[in-house]
Amino acid sequence: MQRRPLFIENADQLITLQGHSDRPATHKAMSELSIIEKGALWIENGEIIAIGTSEDLRTRYHSKLEIADVIDATGKVVLPGLVDPHTHLVFKGTREEEFNMRLNGATYMEIMNAGGGIHSTTSKTREANEEELFSESIKRLDKFLLHGVTTIEAKSGYGMDWETEYKQLKVAKQLDESHPIDVVRTFMGAHAVPKEYKENPDAFVELVIHEMLPKVAKEKLAEFNDVFCERGVFTPEQSRLILEVGKTFGLIPKIHADEIEPYEGAELAAEVGAISADHLLKASEKGIKAMAEKGVIGVLLPGTALFLMTEAANGRKMIDLGLPVAISTDCNPGSSPTVSTPLIMNLACLHMGLTPAEVITASTINAAHAINRAHEIGSLETGKKADVLIANVSNYMQLQYHFGMNHTDTVIKNGMVVVKGGVRC
Ligand code: NIG
Ligand code: FE
Repeated sequence: MQRRPLFIENADQLITLQGHSDRPATHKAMSELSIIEKGALWIENGEIIAIGTSEDLRTRYHSKLEIADVIDATGKVVLPGLVDPHTHLVFKGTREEEFNMRLNGATYMEIMNAGGGIHSTTSKTREANEEELFSESIKRLDKFLLHGVTTIEAKSGYGMDWETEYKQLKVAKQLDESHPIDVVRTFMGAHAVPKEYKENPDAFVELVIHEMLPKVAKEKLAEFNDVFCERGVFTPEQSRLILEVGKTFGLIPKIHADEIEPYEGAELAAEVGAISADHLLKASEKGIKAMAEKGVIGVLLPGTALFLMTEAANGRKMIDLGLPVAISTDCNPGSSPTVSTPLIMNLACLHMGLTPAEVITASTINAAHAINRAHEIGSLETGKKADVLIANVSNYMQLQYHFGMNHTDTVIKNGMVVVKGGVRC
């Protein structure tokens, strides 16, 4: 069905981020937002057809204006819909009692090693049926949308048995099909060593590589393969094996690296040619340089550092070393129970030393690169998907300056207005 064209005009700033679709932005290019003042977008059938000044596009499309829906973005900033490249979206339950334990002195790893943490969410997720998982997760997606997010990555990993991993990935697929937000799937069977394999973690690794990975690939359940490479979880050797075998099945490697302790996860990401290495709080300079050389994206998760009460990754230094940086919520029930992408953007400035311009790049085009989608989303360019966020601020710096606030006014997904005046429509 032919849809009415959509014309967005008079944006105080139209942030296009053009020119970074082939390669993620690094160094100074992370501050190049390619802003058009009094900017406009012409959208048809979900696609960006033209970009320019309002005057320009009004002249160019004047014969079609009367059949178009028009949005006046006076006093507002128009930017690409936000991309969240690292979430554990599909899970059951909450873990506030562990938060309380951590505030009383327990550490994240102590809780996990005592059978809580990831294991606690795993038990609940194993017990939940598909409908329960779907209805809990779609509520989170609704909230993400109200914060301006139009594409999200979602990992499995609260099953660590085939039945539950499969259930999580199926639910993620159903969510993708039934919600405006696009959901990109990652298999993360190696999220922890399940209790049943505590005495023989290598046997679990065998299960992942011989049984789970082939099934994920055969049923096209995921594009990416992630592993928690951390002392006491999976060693660099086990992680390498899981990621390399995944590659033979066409699954692109990702890695939870150097989150709690330095463990050469960044080095491993470079070695296996991962698309991204995420967390990196304790990554070595050598590892960061190796990643930069290979073009591996560093996905930084400032909410996780905040919630685990640890020092955030040194994003400033990473950008200065040439690493392409993206940021994400890491939405999960243990270390980052939030959907507030705007707050994550604020924290990237306040705790990681990124500038407001770098933060925009990190949550749009570089985030799109981190999930292999930069050819279709992450910037406002002709031919790309019309995924657009209209924020109630008159310049992009205010997005980071008013911290802890949600400035989302309008969200357009695939050319359709799905949030208007901050409310779902
Ligand atoms: O990215 N670090 C490992 N995995 C998640 C946390 C999962 C959980 O605690 O439930 C993370 O922080
Ligand atoms: Fe994570």
